[in-house]
Amino acid sequence: MAAYDAIHRMMSETWEDTYGCYFTAAQLPEARRLWLDALPLASALADPNLFFVLAWDETALAGFVVAQLLDSNDLFLLRVYVHPEHQRRGIGTMLVNRAVMAFPDAATIRLDVEEGNKRGVAFWKQQAFQETGRKPMTVAGVSISLVAMEKRPA
Ligand SMILES: CC(C)(COP(=O)(O)OP(=O)(O)OC[C@H]1O[C@@H](n2cnc3c(N)ncnc32)[C@H](O)[C@@H]1OP(=O)(O)O)[C@@H](O)C(=O)NCCC(=O)NCCS
Repeated sequence: MAAYDAIHRMMSETWEDTYGCYFTAAQLPEARRLWLDALPLASALADPNLFFVLAWDETALAGFVVAQLLDSNDLFLLRVYVHPEHQRRGIGTMLVNRAVMAFPDAATIRLDVEEGNKRGVAFWKQQAFQETGRKPMTVAGVSISLVAMEKRPA
């Protein structure tokens, strides 16, 4: 349970640092719940079909990746979170590489990133992902747009 709590705290803090500015203080708890419950942490940890790897920086939990091989043989990166205190040290790149290397036969690597998430968009572009489409969504009454991106493995 201590591990669950540590991952959940790290994920919540990273989520709020990334998306907190989209929402008012009144909207924030509901937005965080809706966003993070789209892939509940307990289910993700227990699901044998999900690839889940943690990254540690010395003794601190720095980040994690959750990925799934789809029936289409595409690898979908469901979450890549690196805590703000550990960003820009190559940890996100390492996590993505670990997931991609675990599925060497995947046809395509895919993900969705929110268009206003400048850090996320810059990161995926630097990893040579390209936009393939957009999906509008509403979270806690706020309109957002998910950018679908993909790349072929090297
Ligand atoms: C996006 C995220 C995973 C990147 O993780 P990271 O460990 O900081 O990434 P890396 O250190 O491996 O960065 C690799 C490259 O991506 C680009 N990049 C990463 N963060 C960036 C930023 N804030 N601004 C501009 N470029 C950025 C840079 O080119 C960087 O290389 P450099 O540091 O040598 O310039 C991290 O910012 C994060 O967890 N954000 C919150 C959650 C999120 O948005 N996840 C992805 C949404 S789908």
